[in-house]
Amino acid sequence: MTELDPPVIRPRRLRTTPAMREMVAEATLRPSQLVLPLFVREGITETRPISSMPGVVQHTRDTLRKAVVEAAEAGIRGVMLFGIPESKDPAGSGAIDPDGILNVAIRDVADEVGDAVVVMGDLCLDEFTDHGHCGVLTPDGRVDNDATLAAYAEMAVAQAAAGVDMVGPSGMMDGQVAVIRAALDAAGHTDTGILAYGAKYASAFFGPFREAVDSSLQGDRRTYQQDPRNGLEGVREAVLDVEQGADIVMVKPALAYLDVIRQVRDAPELRGVPVAAYNVSGEFAMVEAAAARGWIDREPAILETLTSIRRAGADLILTYWAVEVAALLP
Ligand code: PBG
Repeated sequence: MTELDPPVIRPRRLRTTPAMREMVAEATLRPSQLVLPLFVREGITETRPISSMPGVVQHTRDTLRKAVVEAAEAGIRGVMLFGIPESKDPAGSGAIDPDGILNVAIRDVADEVGDAVVVMGDLCLDEFTDHGHCGVLTPDGRVDNDATLAAYAEMAVAQAAAGVDMVGPSGMMDGQVAVIRAALDAAGHTDTGILAYGAKYASAFFGPFREAVDSSLQGDRRTYQQDPRNGLEGVREAVLDVEQGADIVMVKPALAYLDVIRQVRDAPELRGVPVAAYNVSGEFAMVEAAAARGWIDREPAILETLTSIRRAGADLILTYWAVEVAALLP
C-alpha cells in the first residue's frame, strides 16, 4: 500500500455510532466507584458556602445526614467525612475527643445510613490544630512524627468507636498505618478498614481545601508530603502502607498525578489491592472556574476528568462531583 491508497485498517469503524463506541469503551464510570467527600462544621445552624469550591458547603450536623442520604439514593456507596471544630489547639485535641465534631458526625451518619454507605473519616490533625499542620510540633516547630503517631492511634480508636467503617490516614507520617492497625485491633476493631493516602504530594491543588476547613497553615507540608517530582517514591509509599495493613491505597491529587496512579496500579506488590484517587479541591475549582467563564463545557469536562482517572487505573475516585455525576451516568 502506498500512502495514497485507501487505508485497509480503519480505526474509525469502531467510532461510527454511539452504540459502537459504548460497546468498545475501555474505562467505565459507575456511581459505586465514586466517593463523596463532605465537610461538617461544629456549632452552625445553617450551611456555609465555600467560595473557592462553588456548590460545596460546610454542613451542619443535620444537613450532613441529609447529604449522605441523598448520596446513597444517587447510588454512591462511600463518603469521606472532614470535621471543622469550633476551636483549634496545638495538639488538635478535638480529633480525639469522642464529642469532637468529626466523631459525633460519624455517629450521626452511621446511625442514619447503617450499612448502605461505607462511612470513612479523614484521619489527620490539620483540621484540628491551630497551626494547621497534620501533626503535633516539637518545641522548635518541626512536625514530630512519633508523637503524632500516638495521636493518630487514639484518633483511629475514637472514630471506630463512633462507628466509622474505614479510617483515612492522610498525614503522611512514617509508620502511621502500622500504628493505626495495631491500635484498632487492640481495641477490638478488627473489622474497621484503612484507606491509606499512600502517595500524597505537597500540592498547590489543596488550596481551596484550606478554606473548606478554615485552616491557616503556617509554613508548608514539604517535610512530610511528597515532592511532586517523585513518581517511584509514590509507589514505595503505597507498598509500605500495604505492608503495614492498608486495605485500599490512594493517590492524591489525581489529575496532576495520573502517571503515579498507573504505576501504583501496575506495581506487582500491590496486585489485588484496590487503588483510590482523590480529585482534590484545586482540581475541582479549576474546572468550575473555567466553566463559569464559559471557557470550557462543564459537564463533558467533568466526565472526561473522572473517566481519565479511571483509565489511569483508579478503582475508586473521591470527587466533590460524585452525586451530580451519578445522575448523569447510564
Ligand atoms: C489532610 C487532607 C487534605 C486534603 C485531604 N485530607 C489537605 C492537606 O493535606 O493539605 C485535601 C483534599 C482536597 O484538597 O480536596 N487532612
